[in-house]
Amino acid sequence: MPLMEPYRVKVVEPIPILTRAEREAAMVRAAYNPFSLRADEVTIDLLSDSGTGALSAAQQAAGMRGDETYAGARSFFRFRDTVSELTGYPHIMPVHQGRAAERILFGAVLKPGQLSVSNTHFDTTRANVILSGGVAVDLPCPEAADLDNAYPFKGDIDLAALAAKLDGPDDVGIVVMTITNNGGGGQPVSMANLTAVAKLCREHQVPFFLDAARFAENAWLVIQREPGYADHTPQQVARLAFDLADGAVASLKKDAIAHMGGFLALREEGLAKHCEAILIATEGFRTYGGLAGRDLEMLAEGLREVVEPDYLRARAAATAHLAELVKAAGVSVVEPPGIHALYLNAGRLLPHIPPSEFPGHALATELYLAGGIRCAELGSLYLGEEDENGVLVKPAPYELVRLAIPRRVYTQSHLEYVAETIAEVAKNPERVPGYRVVEAPALLRHFNCRVEPIR
Ligand code: F0G
Repeated sequence: MPLMEPYRVKVVEPIPILTRAEREAAMVRAAYNPFSLRADEVTIDLLSDSGTGALSAAQQAAGMRGDETYAGARSFFRFRDTVSELTGYPHIMPVHQGRAAERILFGAVLKPGQLSVSNTHFDTTRANVILSGGVAVDLPCPEAADLDNAYPFKGDIDLAALAAKLDGPDDVGIVVMTITNNGGGGQPVSMANLTAVAKLCREHQVPFFLDAARFAENAWLVIQREPGYADHTPQQVARLAFDLADGAVASLKKDAIAHMGGFLALREEGLAKHCEAILIATEGFRTYGGLAGRDLEMLAEGLREVVEPDYLRARAAATAHLAELVKAAGVSVVEPPGIHALYLNAGRLLPHIPPSEFPGHALATELYLAGGIRCAELGSLYLGEEDENGVLVKPAPYELVRLAIPRRVYTQSHLEYVAETIAEVAKNPERVPGYRVVEAPALLRHFNCRVEPIR
């Protein structure tokens, strides 16, 4: 089978094509921060795969039968039955997006000072652990530290380190496995690793949860890469993963291919009762949780579509194709490429830019100037630590750029345009300037900072 999208286009949306001069003006207006660009200024938007997917005709039709009854809406029961069938969990709470489920879960489970241990907490997950009085500890497997290592499951947790944490003096309140590991390069977690984590958690009587935002993509990579799963369906693998845990939080803006939504799913009734009270106080009644009936319907339909093998095969092939083209142009990526995003090794492409001048940010900015591609760095601008004078004292471990791929939105030719733009920049990397921060808020500076090129 050639690489081909298993759907055809029914509705189109024009994309803005700007001149280089217009893009330069837009970047000046945005103070060189991609988060400050307007959609009208972006040709290909690879900032996030969250809430950016294209709905199917079936999802739109499902939305039309959305039941907006305040309590007991038909749409809730369709949503609940779909999530319950997928996960096997009896207690299903809709929430407006993933971070709401995180806030409710950690608020209910974590006691002050307790640890949340993960392969890697996503940033909102980490923030919600901290807001609940806990301490977030990441224990990625050692293979993950080597960006070039093609180990197939670099999303795995370091089992020896996890066992030591559970045996040690710290009070571990929860273990959370992020599938796939977004913060760690979009890498999958193996079933063998999840099984071992579940066993350790059971032995130590510590609750084990999944952050299942990309559960279907993780299942697909297990089927492709892990011995013993080639004959399974994505649904079967996903279910085996959910079976191992005590519950899950999920942002459904990813693998439910919808614009808004999430769930908190639990096995245990006592915890569910506690969480439900917080849900009603902060999100909405238990049968809508901050979502409209039409959202619940579109999410239920999206959860059925996302596990279709033809869809997952094509999506994985699209990312792999982009990775091949980018590597052929001499740009390194985090190996092996996952599905939801391609992570470019900006530090290696731009060795003349020190971490204090943000090579990841420099590459992301250049991709916009050269081709109107919006993406963001995962490097020292975002993850580095600076002193009170704003001087970078601890750079990020890597200088990466994440090209997040929205679901069903861009075609093969769009991705080839992205690859051509990257290749163009990679011809003369020494021309790319470094950047300095002009103004930055104390919190979450990468979203709001103003920077400028160093000429
Ligand atoms: N967990 C993971 C692994 C995520 O990637 C995200 C969001 C969340 C939780 C939070 O979910 O946005 O629905 O509240 N990731 C987006 C991204 C923002 O671009 O990677 P949310």
